[in-house]
Amino acid sequence: MITMQSTMGDVWSTPIGHDVLATLLRQAGIPAACVTNPVVRRLRLSQLATIAGKRVDAGFFPALLGLLNAQANDAAASVPAPSSENIEPWWKRAVFYQIWVRSFQDSNGDGIGDLGGVIRRLDYLRDLGVDAIWLSPIYDSPNDDYGYDIRDYRAIMAEFGTMDDFDRLLAGVHERGMRLIMDLVVNHTSDEHPWFQAALADPAGPYGDFYHFRDGSPDQPPSNWTSFFSGPAWRYFPQRQQWGLHLFSSKQMDLNWDNPAVRDEVADLVTWWLDKGVDGFRMDVINYISKQPGLPAGDETVGQLVGFTGIENYLYGPALHEHLRELRARAFAPHGAMTVGETPGVGVRMAEQLTLPDRGELDMIFNFDHLDMPGKRRFDDYQYDLDYLKQYLIEWQRDYRGQMALFYDNHDNPRWISKVDPSGAHRRELAKLLAIIQLTLRGTPFLFQGQELGMANQRFGSIGELRDIESLNLYRELLDDGVAPADAFAKVLSGTRDHARTPVQWTPGPHAGFSDAEPWISGSGDWAQGWNAQDEAADPSSVLSFYRALIALRREHPALATGSVRFVGENRKHYLGYVRQQGDERFFVECNLSARPLRRHSVPGRFEKLLTSDDTVSLDGTLRPYQASAYRVR
Ligand code: GLC
Repeated sequence: MITMQSTMGDVWSTPIGHDVLATLLRQAGIPAACVTNPVVRRLRLSQLATIAGKRVDAGFFPALLGLLNAQANDAAASVPAPSSENIEPWWKRAVFYQIWVRSFQDSNGDGIGDLGGVIRRLDYLRDLGVDAIWLSPIYDSPNDDYGYDIRDYRAIMAEFGTMDDFDRLLAGVHERGMRLIMDLVVNHTSDEHPWFQAALADPAGPYGDFYHFRDGSPDQPPSNWTSFFSGPAWRYFPQRQQWGLHLFSSKQMDLNWDNPAVRDEVADLVTWWLDKGVDGFRMDVINYISKQPGLPAGDETVGQLVGFTGIENYLYGPALHEHLRELRARAFAPHGAMTVGETPGVGVRMAEQLTLPDRGELDMIFNFDHLDMPGKRRFDDYQYDLDYLKQYLIEWQRDYRGQMALFYDNHDNPRWISKVDPSGAHRRELAKLLAIIQLTLRGTPFLFQGQELGMANQRFGSIGELRDIESLNLYRELLDDGVAPADAFAKVLSGTRDHARTPVQWTPGPHAGFSDAEPWISGSGDWAQGWNAQDEAADPSSVLSFYRALIALRREHPALATGSVRFVGENRKHYLGYVRQQGDERFFVECNLSARPLRRHSVPGRFEKLLTSDDTVSLDGTLRPYQASAYRVR
């Protein structure tokens, strides 16, 4: 139990304390050594409060203690390891590929991607070397948040096809020796889900307590919690004369996981899909499911630091581990299913609490700390410095004892190559450099559709071209705050998720071969300049060809997936080098993280070049801008 009499050393030694402090330090650009030095280690929180004085509000330290102690009663250590964990699980060597169906491939000419389209492209995925597909939500949904607002967990979204299509898809995946995982969105449901409708209609009935409702007058939300999609996290429901909690859009109502009937329903629906034969789940914002009892007000200082008020009450709630262990024991374990949790705000130590095998919770998590530079947020306009990615990767590869999920792109972020090189001057080299790092470090790589083609950010011309609720809400909020429309649009453009949600570029033809009809969202058109799967497949120097070769290399040499990692030349700016080794096999990877030539690092051994992102020049002496190479070492 952490109290105001505890020292900084005490805080640092707990998983939550470690990760919360590490996050705050990183955001402030302060090295971790500042906390671990003997003087600061001995500092008591009460002394820190005196030093902080009026810079933080009165609620700050109580809020911090609440968060630090949220897991004080965690009894996980006594949970025995599931016996199947002794065999190396399949996902440790797998390459995953995320499909955001709406923009992947249209098969029925309505401008919207669908399951038929995914089936059509299964051979493409097999040829790329993909082992497993993660399907973003395909369930029935009113699409307020494009499928992340589920109305029926056991039905397919009409625009995507039918359950028969799904069964054909699953069979097609398995026939090709691949696996399929689904997206499990159970922090919330759509307000159109029958559970929510029943909760509104009959507060005393069986579903009355499925969600978080609070009293309060219609003009005053019950607390200051804010939503991730702008505005308050509360919506008033006259039917119940109460407010309902929604951390995301006002149509995504948070489920009450403290109610055992909710947990029964979730275990049932997971089992239903596993009985069908799916191989696992990606679990949406899964660390938010447990909330502090009573949903206390959020601290304003914490809210300002993080950008969302109330977050300390659910980032890592009191029953999180308990719920995850229960769900694993009831649903995932009996089917041998794999899980990867989406866990924003979870650092190295908390990640271990969630994923080490003897904990019996999840298999992997997605950590997001590398996506933006310290002190920056997604909607800030800035150029990413890959030396920060290097620092992040070294920390996780060295410190984290679980299996890392390696990724850059997903459906929630602009395209990574544009973050690093907004001008696009080094698009091809950079795409290859990022590929090498992702596919030769220890962990499980997750590619996002189009990444393997070097797809970049879009040149959206006006707010009318955007579709995502987060972007549209933010734009409205900025205008309400008095920001000029052009400035508001520029801000939204820097971070909009729509950059990742334009149609996959299959051919140089109309609509990039995605559809015969006008797509539901349009891209900039660079598919006609060679950035498409058809042209790239025919070009040995393309990004797609590089991905294929790289994935094949990884498959051929287990050392690249599961071998040990040793970094070399660590202190050299812009330089990333590492040795991977397993048994007799040894590999060396070196990368120039900058747009300027860089001197190579001398490493002893006889090198046989396997792959390089830039074959046009001699490999001796210097590394070209963003050049990355992999060698076998004899
Ligand atoms: C996750 C999803 C995101 C969605 C949100 C709410 O972050 O990845 O797309 O909007 O959860 O479900």
